[in-house]
Amino acid sequence: MLKTVPDLETLFSELQALRETIASQVKALSEEVLKRERMNDLKVDVACSQIDLQIREYTALMTRINDARVAAEAGAESPEALVSIRRDWAILGARSSLTRVELNQWAMMRDLVRTQVVSMRKRMPLYDPKISDIIASQNAVSDTVFAMLHAVLNPEKQSDDAEAKGCFPDISLANSQFHQHLHAAYRVLLAQEKTEPSRFLDVGCGGGLKVLSALRYFTDAHGLDFQQSYVDVARKLLDHAVGNRPEVFQADALSFEGYADYDVIYFYRPIRHESQLIDMERRIVEMARPGTILVAPYLGFSARCDTLDCGHVAGNVYLAKTSQKETDWLRRKAERTGPAVVKPEHSRPSNLWTPLLVASHRCGFDISREPVRI
Ligand SMILES: C[S@@+](CC[C@H](N)C(=O)[O-])C[C@H]1O[C@@H](n2cnc3c(N)ncnc32)[C@H](O)[C@@H]1O
Repeated sequence: MLKTVPDLETLFSELQALRETIASQVKALSEEVLKRERMNDLKVDVACSQIDLQIREYTALMTRINDARVAAEAGAESPEALVSIRRDWAILGARSSLTRVELNQWAMMRDLVRTQVVSMRKRMPLYDPKISDIIASQNAVSDTVFAMLHAVLNPEKQSDDAEAKGCFPDISLANSQFHQHLHAAYRVLLAQEKTEPSRFLDVGCGGGLKVLSALRYFTDAHGLDFQQSYVDVARKLLDHAVGNRPEVFQADALSFEGYADYDVIYFYRPIRHESQLIDMERRIVEMARPGTILVAPYLGFSARCDTLDCGHVAGNVYLAKTSQKETDWLRRKAERTGPAVVKPEHSRPSNLWTPLLVASHRCGFDISREPVRI
């Protein structure tokens, strides 16, 4: 027993030192990943080789741990002493098994880093230039189903006062188009490198389905609508949201004061009358912070974006109070982000790779996750 304790401690320290070496290399990798197109390939290679080396060291250390444990057990002078030795070694055993599980993920992590080294050399457009006939067909079917769901979820008729005010009823933008725009907006937000929680607003949210969907991309998603009965329906739907609680409230887009609180503002032609619609667009742009991402999927806005002091990013995505030159620069940066949409999972326990995963997610990259099997 006396003889085994120092061995145990030495081995524990060696395992700890190995973990710390790997953690420092993971930190170095994460820092390089966050430099994006300015990442230093050589530093990445060196960090990867160091981790490879530590993994070989780990295999050798495991053999020594095993040998030492077997020798300690063989030296036990009584059954009680054997139980005590096994108890002493159990903690090291558990720690080294956990390390093995973590190190088994290295191949996946190395691929994640390599993908980013390669991807930073080329750009991926924010919108797919050509959607295949197969995907287009699948989208059409899925959009039809969503349109049916939308009608079921919001059975409310337009109120007389909303109609008199010039509001459009709750007409849904096709689901697949919405996701194309939000995905592009998400990548622009990644390119902006903001670290605070991201906030999304749907101006004229109707039954709230788009607010629910936006929660997959952004930390907070809110919606406002002129019609109280739509707001009531949306609130019921959003009770089912997982994670951050979405907020929906009654407000008039023409007098709402809170546009400056959002990073992404989506408006799908809520107002029927052109002059009021233009008043709303002007209000949004004037009140929004410079660089706020606007998603406005209708023709009139693209024609007016110049005069409204907005830059056009791509498709139906714009930047408030941003010159076209700056907007083009940000679009090119956004095109270097990856396609992965990952929401932070605070509930997931952190491990050796967490800093690398977090850095990669901030650049739009993720490990390839197995599809859920049913
Ligand atoms: C075309 S629907 C859009 C629904 C949803 N945002 C979507 O993209 O599927 C327009 C919505 O805007 C709302 N709306 C119209 N005028 C508004 C106003 N002045 N203030 C707030 N909401 C308004 C309508 O009640 C309606 O729900």
